[in-house]
Amino acid sequence: MRIVSKAAAMQKLAQQWKRRGVRIGFVPTMGYLHAGHLSLVREARKRVGKTGKVVVSIYVNPTQFAPTEDLAKYPRDLKRDLKLCREAGVDVVFTPSDAGIYPGKSENGFSTYVVEGKLSQTMEGASRPMHFRGVTTVVAKLFNFVLPEVAVFGQKDFQQAAIIKRMVADLNFPVKMIVAPTLREADGLAMSSRNKFLDVEQRAQAVILFHALRAASLAVKRKPVSAARLKADLKEFITAAPLARLDYVEFFNPEALAPVAQVERGVQMALAVFVGKTRLIDNASL
Ligand code: PAJ
Repeated sequence: MRIVSKAAAMQKLAQQWKRRGVRIGFVPTMGYLHAGHLSLVREARKRVGKTGKVVVSIYVNPTQFAPTEDLAKYPRDLKRDLKLCREAGVDVVFTPSDAGIYPGKSENGFSTYVVEGKLSQTMEGASRPMHFRGVTTVVAKLFNFVLPEVAVFGQKDFQQAAIIKRMVADLNFPVKMIVAPTLREADGLAMSSRNKFLDVEQRAQAVILFHALRAASLAVKRKPVSAARLKADLKEFITAAPLARLDYVEFFNPEALAPVAQVERGVQMALAVFVGKTRLIDNASL
């Protein structure tokens, strides 16, 4: 396994592979890897085959964090990440530096952002206003360094995957987007690097997100329910976990992410909940 930390070297390597007709599969991450990330690596390998190359990037992207958010505290353990990547059969781990991604000092300093205009207004975009601008910008740049034919993202970040899909279509990136299912802990909590911040009690109560998804699924099984009614019920439901505080819960159409007034089977539900100071998200098709 190779570790490439210079952005220009990554692009050169990808160009060499391309000239030889080698297929490139890509899994962008912010590191602190867990089994969910590794399931994306397996999916990438499946797509490009034994003769293809699987690249994982590990980069905690500052432009997708607001000044009030957890950028400095974001968990990091590169040594462990590299071990997990090696065991998973990754070919290259791309670990760019901030200066490699956002050269800031010279007159050629960074000044171009990619902004998606529609899907990023709601949910995560409403709660974290500059977040998706940072995500689309860094993913566009990573695509240009890694030159993937296939890129794998997680359903866990449903809105992120939808927005990147939109960017790929709108800006004609020659990348096939794959969205892989959410891996969960035994009790249903979606795996996330941020779960590390939870103490024992918070960890026990964090399963409320999964239980809320299940409760909503059951509620609409037989007949549609008004979104307003279901939101009120879920807000109440979440008070069963005293350390949890609902940020938002939304019901929407999975393609356009347009909110629905009536919730029925097949509608997508997403929610964000603070458990203590840690903000967790989850989603599912009901
Ligand atoms: P990060 O949170 O590290 O997630 C990297 C990828 O792993 C994302 O596509 C995410 O949806 C996926 N993932 C996270 N938890 C998962 C789980 N439990 N099961 C399956 N997949 C899961 O998302 C980001 O990083 C960043 O925004 C990034 C796209 C790298 C841009 O900086």
